[in-house]
Amino acid sequence: MPFIIAIDGPAASGKGTIARALADRFGFHHLDTGLLYRATGAKGGDPVAAAHSLNAEDLARPDLRSAEAGQAASRIAAIPDVRAALVAFQHRFAAQDPGAVLDGRDIGTVICPDAAVKLYVVASDEVRAARRAAELGADPQEMLAQLRERDLRDSQRATAPLRPAEDAVVLDTSTLSIDDAVARAVAEVLRVRGD
Ligand code: DC
Repeated sequence: MPFIIAIDGPAASGKGTIARALADRFGFHHLDTGLLYRATGAKGGDPVAAAHSLNAEDLARPDLRSAEAGQAASRIAAIPDVRAALVAFQHRFAAQDPGAVLDGRDIGTVICPDAAVKLYVVASDEVRAARRAAELGADPQEMLAQLRERDLRDSQRATAPLRPAEDAVVLDTSTLSIDDAVARAVAEVLRVRGD
């Protein structure tokens, strides 16, 4: 049985950084599932058809990290048929030996409800906006408004909304360095594995 680590949380909470670090540390595969939604939104046209026809080239587009791509992703991610079209790919990815780390919004709740480790990564709105502004070279106030709009949409949609799984461990990274946040996540994996 591959070991699955599910990491969810709002935008810029630090979940991607933690997911990559865990994958490195344990030699697991890593999937940033937000990229699937960003690539679907960026393709344009009918989003359901776009989700069904996603390929490696779509996922490698250089413009997927932008704030606009994030907003477009959040909008098309509310469409149930878009989400359904992306499930099989995520399940195949999660089934790889020796294990996989998937980060997103609904990994612990919908995609991998039986994951061995579930983390729900949060940080204050202000900290998240400052991080994203530094990353994208954008205005923190504008980032704050955008993040709040996106989180609201992601958490209020009817299908697979952003929320912690009942058995998720909540990790607040507001006042943690990257190293400390990663260390706590590693400790949780080691605890579950019984190392
Ligand atoms: O993680 P991210 O910021 O790259 O995600 C972009 C958008 O994609 C996010 O606002 C909502 C959507 N998304 C989702 O609905 N479910 C996921 N598992 C991952 C992302």
